[in-house]
Amino acid sequence: MIQQKATNIKWHHGKITRDDRVKLMKQKGVTIWLTGLSGSGKSTIAVELEHALLENRHQAYILDGDNIRYGLNKNLGFSPEDRSENIRRIGEVAKLFTDANIITITAFISPYSADRDNARKFQKEGEFVEVYVKCPLKVCEERDTKGLYKKARAGEVKEFTGISAPYEEPLNSEITIDTSKLSVEESTRVILNYLEKKGYIKF
Ligand code: ADX
Repeated sequence: MIQQKATNIKWHHGKITRDDRVKLMKQKGVTIWLTGLSGSGKSTIAVELEHALLENRHQAYILDGDNIRYGLNKNLGFSPEDRSENIRRIGEVAKLFTDANIITITAFISPYSADRDNARKFQKEGEFVEVYVKCPLKVCEERDTKGLYKKARAGEVKEFTGISAPYEEPLNSEITIDTSKLSVEESTRVILNYLEKKGYIKF
C-alpha cells in the first residue's frame, strides 16, 4: 500500500456529472485491461480496437506498456516492485480516463494477479473489464516480434516475463482471447461484441 504523504488536501468536484458525459458522448467509459505475455498480441488488438471504435465515432484511447515507459513511468524497470508500481500508476490513470468517459484500452503484461486486482479495485463495479490475451509461450517466442525472447534466452535481457520472470494467468477474466487461434479482427470483434452487449457502446 502506498502511503498518503500530502495532508490538508480536499477533493474538488466539477459541475459535470458522469451521467452528463454519458449522454453527451453516447457511450459509457470503461477500462479494457489487456493482460498477457510479451508478443501475445495486446498492442495489436488495442490498435485495432481503438480504430474500430473511433471509426464509429466513439472516444477511445490506448495506454500501452512500451509507450508509457518512455514518459510517466520512465523511472521504472522490470523488477517485481517496479512492475507493481507501473501497474498501480496505470491503474490510477485508467481510472481518470474512465471517469472522463473514455473507452480506455490498456496494454500491459501486468504479470501479477494482485496488481491487476488492485487496479480493478480503483474502479467502479463493471467499469474494469479484464481481457486475458492468451497465447502459448512457444508461439510468442516463435513470433518474437521485438527479438527480446532470443535475448532473454541468451541472458542478455534479465527478468523477462515467461523466461526468467513469472506470468500469473488470470483465473476470472471477463474475456479470454486465444490469439494463437483467432485473427486480430476476430479478437477485436469479441471485445466489441462484449462492449455492445453490456451497453457501453452502440454500433
Ligand atoms: S509490465 O510487466 O510492467 O506490465 P509492460 O507491459 O509495462 O510490463 O512492458 C512490457 C514491454 O517492455 C514488453 O512488451 C517488452 O517490449 C519490454 N520489455 C523490456 N524488458 C522486459 C522484461 N524484462 N520483461 C518483459 N518485458 C520487457
